Amino acid sequence: MKILVTGGAGFIGSNFVHHLVRETQDDVVVLDALTYAANRDSLLGLPESRVTFVEGDICDRRLVDDLVASSDAVVHFAAESHNDNSLAEPDRFVTTNVLGTFTLLEAVRRHGTRFHHVSTDEVYGDLALDDPERFSESTPYNPSSPYSATKASSDLLVRAWTRSFDLDATISNCSNNYGPFQHVEKFIPRQITNILVGDRPVLYGDGRNVRDWIHAEDHSSAVLAVLRRGRRGETYLIGADGEASNLEVLRKILVIMGRDASDFDLVRDRPGHDRRYAIDSTKIREELGWRPAHVDFDEGLAATISWYRENGQWWQPLKAATEARYRDQQA
Ligand code: NAD
Ligand code: TYD
Repeated sequence: MKILVTGGAGFIGSNFVHHLVRETQDDVVVLDALTYAANRDSLLGLPESRVTFVEGDICDRRLVDDLVASSDAVVHFAAESHNDNSLAEPDRFVTTNVLGTFTLLEAVRRHGTRFHHVSTDEVYGDLALDDPERFSESTPYNPSSPYSATKASSDLLVRAWTRSFDLDATISNCSNNYGPFQHVEKFIPRQITNILVGDRPVLYGDGRNVRDWIHAEDHSSAVLAVLRRGRRGETYLIGADGEASNLEVLRKILVIMGRDASDFDLVRDRPGHDRRYAIDSTKIREELGWRPAHVDFDEGLAATISWYRENGQWWQPLKAATEARYRDQQA
């Protein structure tokens, strides 16, 4: 198979490309616009005979049509992905996440190509800390931020195109990912790299917000399972039972890095900050037999910290600009 991976130079997309090369015989074409969030170095070491890189925008109809025409399947990761940026500058979230997905849908419709759409659990809004419920495939959509609203919009386009035009499409909604190659704007790498450069970690609000963590490698294996064995038109939630408050995660990072567990600052909360996400992943486990491999969060976190320690050349060039962006957003 020849698989077109959009956003393959980003965090999860690049982890997925490494996973495909390791676990399958498939050839991969990466389509990525190389925004601030991309890093070509995340794809270093992959065999040129199997992985081709195309720099381009998913909103470019002609380019997308040409690439889809010569692919057997499309796995769509490309997106503007960071909530804080979506509050400061929502425009490109609407363009990439909504119009970009529309452009891909029209191309797979023309060519009858298998399509998998990668999305987030944030489309469901949030849960109270004491709510016994978790998100499932039947939870109503209720997005809070411009980021999650544009991802919800893209999911609804995929659902409508699948029903109206009988596309061979699937959707997955995954919880918060961590692991190597994640941009230093995101929570876990931001705190690790703050400590490495001698700055204090920063927690939004009271630090009690809960996220449901999954290793990016487990997200990749789940997406591959849905691509291969998922039922046409179905949605699958992906999660690894990894609920933890931001405060708990930060304390673990501080302890692993040999710092005092209280060595951080509480800063102004994110507007509209979702309180808690939690995934019930029974469907993908029972129907497709998928299981996460990285079930020990402390071990995965320690390995991720080691990766950032050992790969300064990957993240150091991004750090100053990222923190400057945060200072502008907080002003
Ligand atoms: P990321 O920001 O690290 O990477 C996004 C990639 O998309 C970048 O390489 C960027 O250059 C590319 N891109 C952006 N706009 C583009 C455009 N117009 N045309 C072509 N390429 C473009 O994001 P990520 O964290 O890897 O997330 C990937 C996908 O997974 C997104 O769809 C996101 O909604 C979803 N997701 C992320 C998480 C998470 O925890 N990060 C969880 C669940 C779902
Ligand atoms: P983030 O990585 O931005 O992912 P998302 O908003 O998609 O969940 O943030 C994860 C959690 O960490 C979220 O509750 C916001 C919080 N957070 C902080 O407390 N401090 C930070 O510096 C950042 C970036 C996030």
